[in-house]
Amino acid sequence: MVTMQKVRKAVFPVAGLGTRFLPATKAIPKEMLTVVDRPVIQYVVDEALQAGIEHLIFVTGRNKGVIEDYFDIQVELSNTLAERGKTAELQLLDELQPRAGKSSFTRQQAPLGLGHAVWCARDLVGNEPFALLLPDMIMQAEKSCLSSMVELYEQSGGGNVISVETCDPKETAKYGIVGRGSEVGSGFRVDGMVEKPKPEDAPSNFFISGRYILQPEIFDILETQERGAGNEIQLTDGMLKLADRQDFYAYHFTGRTFDCGSKEGFIEANVAFALWRADIRDKVRGNLQELMETVEPARR
Ligand code: G1P
Repeated sequence: MVTMQKVRKAVFPVAGLGTRFLPATKAIPKEMLTVVDRPVIQYVVDEALQAGIEHLIFVTGRNKGVIEDYFDIQVELSNTLAERGKTAELQLLDELQPRAGKSSFTRQQAPLGLGHAVWCARDLVGNEPFALLLPDMIMQAEKSCLSSMVELYEQSGGGNVISVETCDPKETAKYGIVGRGSEVGSGFRVDGMVEKPKPEDAPSNFFISGRYILQPEIFDILETQERGAGNEIQLTDGMLKLADRQDFYAYHFTGRTFDCGSKEGFIEANVAFALWRADIRDKVRGNLQELMETVEPARR
């Protein structure tokens, strides 16, 4: 057991190259691609803030400077909007603006894997539990996934919590997979973890779906973590070691999740979030129906 401290900080690993979205990602980080009218990263940050997170930590890389600009105030834009009386737009920007001093940025200097990206945040996190949100995954639910995880964290008196969902048993090699232990509140105890196993080696079809609450002892483990699946330093391998010493729980999220790291997931996210928005829902719905009935595949 570990003593329970409030989860105040969230880490967002945003250093990935986004090769599946080339050529767009030559000039735009994949986290800045838009779902309806806001970048993917905004959805993930919103989820963290709803769960009570107070400080945002971004692990960026080269060519990602625009993410830092996005979370800053754009004085000239605000002035122009004010002069033109665009109060709704001004209010929106104001609502989304992180407060001064409440976000930090550090760089992952080489693409060595998720475990390494998380380790890069160690000084900014310090000696306290933290949330980790993978921005490829965006979720749609009235109550956010991380909020429910914070509840499970509090109910269980601390420890570590990861979000899981079920996948097609044939697709385990795409994810980190956990073994299912005894039930605890809205989740279960994690009984083993393995990164990207073949279906025959997978302990279940519960995959780690991109939200974590972790204790700071993970950083000492990641410091010396060897490369694993894909020749990368894997967070899952580090968590497996931490699970020898600390409690690990899985929260089974049953809302909708979209993998914006894939083209299909990104398109689905756009459709689903457009249909979720009362202001555009009806129009989008009608247009989609018409498109589904009339668009043929391109001949080349
Ligand atoms: C990462 C994690 C994996 C998790 C997945 C969720 O893999 O290593 O455990 O299941 O995110 O998207 P990646 O997608 O970076 O290969």
